[in-house]
Amino acid sequence: MFDRPPGRLASTGQVSLLAAVILLLISALALDARGGIGLIADQLALLRTPVFRVPAGWPQPVYDFRDNPITAAGFALGRELFYDPKLSRDGSVSCASCHQQFAAFAHYDHAVSHGIDNRNGTRNAPGLFNLAWLPQLMWDGSAHNLEVQPLGPVANPVEMDAKLPALLDRLRADPAYPKRFEAAFGSPDIDSQRMLKALAQFTGTMISADSRYDRYVGGDASALNATEQAGLAAFRARCASCHVEPLFSDFSYRDNGLDAAPRDGGRATVTARAVDRGSFRVPSLRNIGLTPPYMHDGRFDTLGQVLDHYRSGVAGSDHVDPLLRGGLPISAEERAALLAFLPTLDDPGFTHDLRFADPARRR
Ligand code: HEC
Ligand code: HEC
Repeated sequence: MFDRPPGRLASTGQVSLLAAVILLLISALALDARGGIGLIADQLALLRTPVFRVPAGWPQPVYDFRDNPITAAGFALGRELFYDPKLSRDGSVSCASCHQQFAAFAHYDHAVSHGIDNRNGTRNAPGLFNLAWLPQLMWDGSAHNLEVQPLGPVANPVEMDAKLPALLDRLRADPAYPKRFEAAFGSPDIDSQRMLKALAQFTGTMISADSRYDRYVGGDASALNATEQAGLAAFRARCASCHVEPLFSDFSYRDNGLDAAPRDGGRATVTARAVDRGSFRVPSLRNIGLTPPYMHDGRFDTLGQVLDHYRSGVAGSDHVDPLLRGGLPISAEERAALLAFLPTLDDPGFTHDLRFADPARRR
């Protein structure tokens, strides 16, 4: 007789550790039999490749990985490309220059992004995570597909300023890339579609869903203290009509009252409709403690300034969102609770996940 309850599963941490040990043992045996260092490398590559899983309670993603199945070699290639300054005209700027892992892949402490030849853009680089759920990308929704989006920064004269044919030639002339493309796609041919698919395998699997907030919502009542819980309640009362859980956005475009006369047309630059002037995508607030400064132009350095904007700084114009007219009635107590709650959306496991780190650091 067993007195252990039947069917109790080990935690996922234990299971993956066990899987890792078993894989390593198998590899070690294979090494004996066939001298296959390569096999160990293969097993390690698999362990380093994220599996795309929809977190519990989340909607289905928009980007469909069935058209771009994630493989260990495809993901590794995407990661290599993301961190490679070869993608810019003069080899000085990589995607990671403006999208830094420790800042949840935003550009830390840069109000507007800073690209090639020290040229400045006009918008704040957003954090990159949960991208597979975005119906459109960019603050104004000007990119429709995760796969095509990188063509923007690669060609943008203030970002990477590269000509695509020249960039592809650089990759073809590189000693390593043809082999990497062969491993990922079956032949060493390098074209933009393959480059973009590999990048999407990397960026699309960056899922951030393990903050203290997530643990609390998942049933661990001790994950948030009393003040943080009060902050969540205040958030649900004041903010959640636009910043909708679990992704913390409804993906609509709105004017949250930053300027009575917006300089940046925002959504209107895409739709050409006057009513969309000054509207921007409601951004996710996940990892918000890690991604200052805030708003599409990075005008606020702290979350306190953001809350003071919503309390008393909302511009009185006819295009400001009706939900925000006259500002939000946030009491001093609610303000303090919100400031305690917002950083519980940070996900240090994501910003420290070695699978998304610069591959050069560990070679
Ligand atoms: C010079 C800085 C810079 C570089 C280099 C750069 N980006 Fe960006 N990225 C930005 C900025 C700024 C935005 C927001 C632009 C906007 O909304 O108009 C952005 C937006 C994005 C978005 C959309 C995110 C969202 O929430 O909608 C993705 C995805 C992205 N970048 C991926 C990449 C990839 C992949 C590369 C490399 C090929 C790259 N970026 C290179 C600054 C940069
Ligand atoms: C009417 C919809 C709406 C409501 C309600 C709202 N927001 Fe926003 N929020 C937005 C929009 C739109 C933006 C982007 C504005 C821009 O950059 O031009 C934004 C931006 C932000 C940002 C900056 C994010 C970043 O990555 O730069 C923070 C932080 C924020 N909101 C927090 C809150 C909090 C906290 C509340 C409640 C007190 C709240 N919001 C209520 C629509 C809303």
